[in-house]
Amino acid sequence: MKTVGYIATSLDGYIARDNHALDGLESPEWEDPDGSDYGFQDFLSSIDAILIGKNTFLKVAEIGVWVYRDIPFCVVSKTLKNEEIPENLKEKVTVISGSPQELMDMLNDKKYSRVYVDGGKLLQSFIESNHLNELIITRIPILLGGGISLFGALPTDRKVKHVDTKCFKSGLTRSQYYF
Ligand SMILES: NC(=O)c1ccc[n+]([C@@H]2O[C@H](COP(=O)([O-])OP(=O)(O)OC[C@H]3O[C@@H](n4cnc5c(N)ncnc54)[C@H](OP(=O)(O)O)[C@@H]3O)[C@@H](O)[C@H]2O)c1
Repeated sequence: MKTVGYIATSLDGYIARDNHALDGLESPEWEDPDGSDYGFQDFLSSIDAILIGKNTFLKVAEIGVWVYRDIPFCVVSKTLKNEEIPENLKEKVTVISGSPQELMDMLNDKKYSRVYVDGGKLLQSFIESNHLNELIITRIPILLGGGISLFGALPTDRKVKHVDTKCFKSGLTRSQYYF
């Protein structure tokens, strides 16, 4: 089973503001003039399960638009309360918890082949414990100057392999790396 992150950051590496607001990263000026979704739905077609951190799930719930089709969707949390899950999403989500290794074991048992890992802290834990295989980063040409960082501290340097970078007319770039 392979794990892959697919995430957008500011040029200075932030995935949200400290209060979890996404303004600056999500605004009409960053839409693709060619009308594409920057490959997100194609990416979803390449994965067979989603693992998402609690705070990212709460943002998805707040936004209220479900883009994840019927792909198995697991929220990783020890503290998420049933009442925090909107009624219309209760059937769609499974709440699980565990270390990255325990989560991998659970997903391996389900025979998934490619799992999308989403969320800041969750991705950091997968990177730190060497459980992330691939990362696709869409960089938005804005400096936020602070916020929630995609990357965290590591015990040692980690070299990754650059696979491809695509440039869009809007100024966004999407890079793929293998870990
Ligand atoms: N720009 C983008 O493309 C993009 C993409 C994704 C997210 N975001 C935003 O970025 C922010 C991410 O929030 P976040 O950094 O707090 O991360 P997160 O990964 O979404 O949520 C972190 C929470 O997940 C739970 N968790 C369970 N297992 C974990 C593990 N192994 N490692 C870490 N956390 C684990 C913990 O909650 P419990 O204490 O309940 O266990 C933890 O507090 C959100 O505001 C989201 O909207 C932006």
